[in-house]
Amino acid sequence: MTTTITVNGKTTTVDAEPDTPLLWVLRGEMKLVGTKFGCGKALCGACTVHLDGEAVRSCVTPIEAVGAREVTTIEGLKGKEADALRRAWSEVDVVQCGYCQSGQLMSACALLRKTPKPSDEDVSSAMSGNICRCGTYPRIRAAIHLAAGSVAS
Ligand code: FES
Ligand code: FES
Repeated sequence: MTTTITVNGKTTTVDAEPDTPLLWVLRGEMKLVGTKFGCGKALCGACTVHLDGEAVRSCVTPIEAVGAREVTTIEGLKGKEADALRRAWSEVDVVQCGYCQSGQLMSACALLRKTPKPSDEDVSSAMSGNICRCGTYPRIRAAIHLAAGSVAS
C-alpha cells in the first residue's frame, strides 16, 4: 500500500503498510539515517523528528498518523534556532559517541522555538525523554542555554 508524506519539504510516495513506523520509512525507504533507532518503544528519544514542528518519537508514529503534517528530520532541520544550537553544540563540545545527538538536537530545537529563553526546569522537562548513555546531559543543558542567549541577542 502506498502513502504520501512530506519530509524535509519534499513530498514522497512510499510503499509501506499503514502501521509501519515512520522511523522505518525514514531510514529504510528514504535513507535518512541521521534519525536513530534506540529502543523502539518511545523510551530513549533517539528517533525524535518534528511533525509540524512538534518533537515526536518516530519509532511509535505509524505512517498513517502522519497525514498532511510536515516531517522534519535532522537532515532538514533549519532556521535560526537550529543554527544557534549547532554552533553551541560545537562550542560546548557536547558530543561523545554521537548516537543520541540528532534526537537531542530535535528536542532542543522544538523547545527553543516554543520557549526562546528556557529555564533549567523547562530544559529538564523538554529533554527528559532523550537518553544519553554517554552522560552528556550537563553539556547539552549548557549548549541549550548558550544557543538561547545567541538567538535572543
Ligand atoms: S527509538 Fe524511538 S524512543 Fe527510542
Ligand atoms: S553521546 Fe553517546 S549516547 Fe549520547
